[in-house]
Amino acid sequence: MKVTSCLLVVLYLLTIYVTRIDVRSILQNSIDQLVSNSFDDDKLNLMHSSISSYRHRLEHSTKFQALRWSLRKLKNDELCEFCDLMVPVIRILIETNRTSHLDDVLLFICKEYKKIEQNVCIGAVHEYKDAVLETITTSPLNNKGLCAIAFQCEPQFDFPLLKWNVTLPDKPKPQPKPPQPPSPESPKLTVLHLSDIHIDFAYKPGSSADCPEPLCCRAGQPAPNQTGAGFWGDYRSCDIPYWTAEGLLKRIVEIENIDFIYYTGDLPPHNVWNQSRSDQLYSIRTINQLLTELFPNKTFYSAVGNHEAAPCNMYPTPNIRSDNISWLYEVLADNWIKLGLSADTRESILQGAFYTTIVRPGLRLISLNMNYCAQENFWLFINSTDPLNQLQWFIQWLQYAEDHEEKVHIIGHHPPNSCLTAFSWNYYKIVNRYENTIAGQFFGHIHADEFTVFYDEIDQKRPVSIAYIGPSVTTYSHLNPGYRIFTIDGNYPGSSYWVLDHRTVIMNLTATNLYNQTIFLDEYNARDAYEMKYLFPNDWNDLIERLQNDIDGPLMSLIYKYSRKSQSIDCDHDCRRALLCKLKSARFEDPHACDSIPPF
Ligand SMILES: *[C@@H]1O[C@H](CO)[C@@H](O)[C@H](O)[C@H]1NC(C)=O
Ligand SMILES: *[C@@H]1O[C@H](CO)[C@@H](O)[C@H](O)[C@H]1NC(C)=O
Ligand SMILES: *[C@@H]1O[C@H](CO)[C@@H](O)[C@H](O)[C@H]1NC(C)=O
Ligand SMILES: *[C@@H]1O[C@H](CO)[C@@H](O)[C@H](O)[C@H]1NC(C)=O
Ligand SMILES: *[C@@H]1O[C@H](CO)[C@@H](O)[C@H](O)[C@H]1NC(C)=O
Ligand SMILES: *[C@@H]1O[C@H](CO)[C@@H](O)[C@H](O)[C@H]1NC(C)=O
Ligand SMILES: *[C@@H]1O[C@H](CO)[C@@H](O)[C@H](O)[C@H]1NC(C)=O
Ligand SMILES: *[C@@H]1O[C@H](CO)[C@@H](O)[C@H](O)[C@H]1NC(C)=O
Ligand SMILES: *[C@@H]1O[C@H](CO)[C@@H](O)[C@H](O)[C@H]1NC(C)=O
Ligand SMILES: [Zn+2]
Ligand SMILES: [Zn+2]
Repeated sequence: MKVTSCLLVVLYLLTIYVTRIDVRSILQNSIDQLVSNSFDDDKLNLMHSSISSYRHRLEHSTKFQALRWSLRKLKNDELCEFCDLMVPVIRILIETNRTSHLDDVLLFICKEYKKIEQNVCIGAVHEYKDAVLETITTSPLNNKGLCAIAFQCEPQFDFPLLKWNVTLPDKPKPQPKPPQPPSPESPKLTVLHLSDIHIDFAYKPGSSADCPEPLCCRAGQPAPNQTGAGFWGDYRSCDIPYWTAEGLLKRIVEIENIDFIYYTGDLPPHNVWNQSRSDQLYSIRTINQLLTELFPNKTFYSAVGNHEAAPCNMYPTPNIRSDNISWLYEVLADNWIKLGLSADTRESILQGAFYTTIVRPGLRLISLNMNYCAQENFWLFINSTDPLNQLQWFIQWLQYAEDHEEKVHIIGHHPPNSCLTAFSWNYYKIVNRYENTIAGQFFGHIHADEFTVFYDEIDQKRPVSIAYIGPSVTTYSHLNPGYRIFTIDGNYPGSSYWVLDHRTVIMNLTATNLYNQTIFLDEYNARDAYEMKYLFPNDWNDLIERLQNDIDGPLMSLIYKYSRKSQSIDCDHDCRRALLCKLKSARFEDPHACDSIPPF
């Protein structure tokens, strides 16, 4: 039975590694035979040969993102056909107690898919098998539902099990009051946003930066015609060494004058196929220790990333008996309080790693645990309905803030448009309801520097809010390391606490490696670079309209360049269109969000 899970893990890995699998090349009759009742050696051989027939069509995933962006075509037909084929086969094997055959199939796939390094395959199987097995056997979703959620093969809205609604209080929504610019001499707050540090403690300068595993720069000799891993980091599939993160943080201490810090998770490196709980805790403790030393008197407002768990992404909800995430939340509570959070957040952190606290008079912070929204968290396949009642809790606090005339900043790891559909749409609805109260939203996870605009749910035109998606500290992958400084209206009686401007600083990794010393660059200031009057929702919408009117023009080039932290400038028309669409889609699977973007 264990092996059933492995197949799903392999499928999961395929999404990372593979852009195309031409499943249609499998003969239809071989599929029919595979799902027929009996499995003898001949049929297994047939399956083996079917699988090997498209082995050579696999391509490496360097263009994976671009492909997904391209025309917002999230669905990978080939992968979906593969999923539709394999899940029933697995189920039949489970039902007929023939799971021993799955051993053969799995080992075969591990061997055949040369793109997946053998140790990665075995490691991933080892890490994920229990969770995936329990998920498959316990999930009330049918085969199509599982494929829909895992690979976006069908709209999630087609599955009643995946639909749910939060309940908003009876209090009617107040008249929208868009933010107004403060007087120029009013006080400002300066907030540092740090995200996705991903230090690789095993980083080895000079090692192979182009390897079969998802994370390189840790071992092996570079191929004869290739350069080895740079001393300070590498643009290829590598996280950053400790000293590079330290260099970036020291620069912040020296140059920036900040009031407090939003710190949105993902501390461990990307060797996700081989991470233990103690590895994750080592990353968390070591990085947070460094931060406490470098910023002794600053408060960090923390949010938890997907990489803090072991295995990565797997955040069990309380109804999952076989797994328990307390080992992580206890350490996070200690660490986050050491980093300045008020001790009364502990109880809340221990329960779900989300909490609320007051930052300044009239400014409430809400830190969400977005792992309970993420499709990569397989535990949600069993029950994705408002896990831990987090959104309902969120509403209560927003209502409290509205009643007490507080403004709210939201921090979290995954941006809400990358959540499961129902979560994402409920979140959008909540932002709509509390548009007067929510003054800022700050996320990470995607490593690129982006933003996304929320519109009026009904008219779909009036912008109501904006979420900033901050740049990563890690280079993973093809990015320069970076950080973000926000200028915020406050702190004085009646402050709006809206973001007035932001500035992004990057480390030029090419120059840093070339001259063997950290070299930084003030990359851009939002208002200057994009010629914006303010940074209110209207101004962002105005920017989007300018972009829409000139998709192939220089402003869109700039947006793309900065999204890649000045490390890449090539983005063709489809790529631009897809990026623009992301800026307009604050909720997942919104079929009409991008209707206004001209196709050509
Ligand atoms: C499969 O095995 C279990 C116990 O190992 C047994 O209870 C069940 O009846 C078997 N099912 C079939 C279809 O043979
Ligand atoms: C995982 O890492 C350990 C060392 O930390 C190593 O001994 C082991 O072989 C690795 N396992 C796999 C599957 O790579
Ligand atoms: C959620 O709300 C929408 C509209 O408000 C309604 O159409 C839908 O049936 C509700 N879904 C559930 C599962 O309650
Ligand atoms: C050298 O690089 C080329 C492509 O740049 C590649 O085709 C070739 O296999 C490489 N040679 C070796 C020995 O790795
Ligand atoms: C931190 O605060 C303490 C007391 O609040 C003060 O004595 C100390 O000098 C401060 N340290 C720095 C680096 O600002
Ligand atoms: C997880 O473990 C903690 C103690 O380590 C316990 O208090 C808690 O009830 C457990 N949670 C679940 C869902 O079993
Ligand atoms: C899923 O969890 C919610 C509460 O978190 C509960 O109300 C619902 O009944 C659960 N659904 C299933 C199918 O167990
Ligand atoms: C980074 O430095 C390299 C080498 O000095 C230079 O060619 C490149 O233009 C710089 N990149 C940026 C974004 O300034
Ligand atoms: C770069 O500088 C580090 C110290 O900062 C040193 O250890 C390393 O050897 C230097 N590398 C080169 C190629 O000079
Ligand atoms: Zn990350
Ligand atoms: Zn992440």
